Amino acid sequence: MTMQDKIKELLELRTKARLGGGEKRIEKQHSQGKFTARERISMLLDEGSFEEFDMFVTHRCTNFGMEKEKYLGDGVVTGYGSIDGRLVYVFAQDFTTFGGSLSETHAAKICKVLELATKMGAPLIGINDSGGARIQEGVNSLAGYASIFQRNILASGVIPQISAIFGPCAGGAVYSPALTDFVMMVKNTSYMFLTGPKVVKTVTGEDVTTEDLGGASIHATKSGVAQFVAENEEDGIKMIRHLLSFLPSNNMETPPEIECNDPIDRVDNSLNDIIPENPTKPYDVKDVIASIVDHGEFLEVHSLYAKNIVIGFARMGGMSVGVVANQPLHMAGVLDINASRKGARFVRFCDAFNIPIVSLVDVPGFLPGTGQEYGGVITHGAKLLYAYGESTVPKVTVTLRKSYGGSHIVMSCKQLRGDINYAWPTAEIAVMGAEGAVEVLYAKEIKEIPDPQKQAEAIAAKKEEYNKLFLNPYTAANYGYIDDVIEPRNTRYRVIRALRSTQNKQLENPAKKHDNLPL
Ligand code: HXC
Repeated sequence: MTMQDKIKELLELRTKARLGGGEKRIEKQHSQGKFTARERISMLLDEGSFEEFDMFVTHRCTNFGMEKEKYLGDGVVTGYGSIDGRLVYVFAQDFTTFGGSLSETHAAKICKVLELATKMGAPLIGINDSGGARIQEGVNSLAGYASIFQRNILASGVIPQISAIFGPCAGGAVYSPALTDFVMMVKNTSYMFLTGPKVVKTVTGEDVTTEDLGGASIHATKSGVAQFVAENEEDGIKMIRHLLSFLPSNNMETPPEIECNDPIDRVDNSLNDIIPENPTKPYDVKDVIASIVDHGEFLEVHSLYAKNIVIGFARMGGMSVGVVANQPLHMAGVLDINASRKGARFVRFCDAFNIPIVSLVDVPGFLPGTGQEYGGVITHGAKLLYAYGESTVPKVTVTLRKSYGGSHIVMSCKQLRGDINYAWPTAEIAVMGAEGAVEVLYAKEIKEIPDPQKQAEAIAAKKEEYNKLFLNPYTAANYGYIDDVIEPRNTRYRVIRALRSTQNKQLENPAKKHDNLPL
């Protein structure tokens, strides 16, 4: 063979590998509104930056005549490239080859990029589109999954891991995405479940469609498994690129800071009027977020799940921040099981990756009732408390309105190592609202008043006394629990200054094997 022949052979092999399971199957993939693994990677990465590994890997299975059916690459495309010029590692399962199912060698390819990403300190993005364990391979496939999970676990908190679900993701396969930091699903073409509709029917008698069991709408709203939902794959890829722009490449770096051309001293007079006179009236905390962050740009995470708390990424003065805000527009911004879990995971992510946290507080308390207590709101609420308390990243908190009782403590108060805690003049920082307090303190005394009219007057007087004493920011400011009471319209500038003051923050937790947060 001449050199020319050898190069020709290489090019032919590459062409063959790039065809995956063949043109017919690629057509089928396209007809379902899905892109192929390679098309997805080329949309995701900067043009021409992809370097592929293991293109010539084939499976080693000989069961069921499998030795006669081999495809170069074995159902997954892996390698590295760049996004906005920064190194990332990727894998994309190729549904056109054995339905993207996971063999021993397919798993080894994923493990290789996971290990490299961890070693090089670069994010890993996995695009999942797979029929699950390669049935012909039996336990070797299971071992492959376990090997991936182990590497997901070791990479957790070291590099950002993002999972895009662009097709089926069923059985134990769902646990790799679940172990990563963010799960994105695409409307109508992706689903995730441990057991499919047929097994569900056999075991529980329940009739349920694939979409209703594990479609994007379910995981974004009910289960909370998916933090992002995309309209289509292109939209999803754009979201991943946008998300990465806020994140450092690994836990040893700080997030990328960009030049800020939104004036940091921009005041917004409308904030002075945003809190309604009536304390039970809601407003949209996202308006406050949009007003104070650079260019009003906010990448909301988990936007459809536990809407009573809002979380997401933004920039302030060019610095990347994680925003956590109670949302009075939903359930009066109360904290419940789901909101606590949602907030806690986000705070821990920010802490792991050196992203400062800005908390906007307007919380009337924890949601009362048997539903919450039986569901373990004590343990779940403690997760958020724990997350704030253990985090060492800069924390700037602004209390906009209510901040009552346990929920006051949980939402990044001073004693949970809040670095700078501001309050608006509309803040009410107290153990509980006047209604409850008067009921507890004066029930007996008021009952003894025979005239109902006089009774009502006595209640009103006691409430006023309580409100005067506690429903303001000044009692807390008096003790130094609040560092300053700020004019709402100056919030952007005061928070950015506060964040800048924390840039060299030094704080470490005691050495330990790991913590034991209330899971
Ligand atoms: C081997 C598979 C496969 C699998 C699909 N294929 N899943 N091959 N192992 N798990 C092959 C098909 O034979 C077919 O090959 C091609 O991929 C496309 O599959 P279709 O069925 O034609 O596609 P579609 O109609 O779109 O249906 C997709 C599907 C279905 C719903 C995912 O393929 C399916 O139900 N697959 C089995 C899912 C499953 O039960 N997996 C195991 C789960 S248990 P040809 O040659 O015709 O193109 C599990 C345990 C993991 O994963 C535990 C980890 C801890």
